[in-house]
Amino acid sequence: MPKLVVVTRDGQERAVDGDVGLSVMEVIRDNGFDELLALCGGCCSCATCHVHIDGDWADRLPPMSEDENDLLESSDHRNESSRLSCQIPFTQDLDGMRVTIAPED
Ligand code: FES
Repeated sequence: MPKLVVVTRDGQERAVDGDVGLSVMEVIRDNGFDELLALCGGCCSCATCHVHIDGDWADRLPPMSEDENDLLESSDHRNESSRLSCQIPFTQDLDGMRVTIAPED
């Protein structure tokens, strides 16, 4: 099972197992990180699943949709590593990816 490394807002880091087929948001949430609110449940309408993707991992992710891009525009904490975690399918290829939960807007 691939692992996802999650860094919380206070800088704590933990590697968790994630089922292939879930979204990165679901992997984070199912492992008890309740600071990732994911209020809309993954339908790309809330931006409360905002994460920053570590290093080169961003290049391996599927491109961002226009909706995701628009939603991220509303965040004060957007940077070049920003993604909405509900829009990223978790796959074996992402084993070891490190993401940081973005500050709350
Ligand atoms: S969970 Fe709402 S946009 Fe990702």
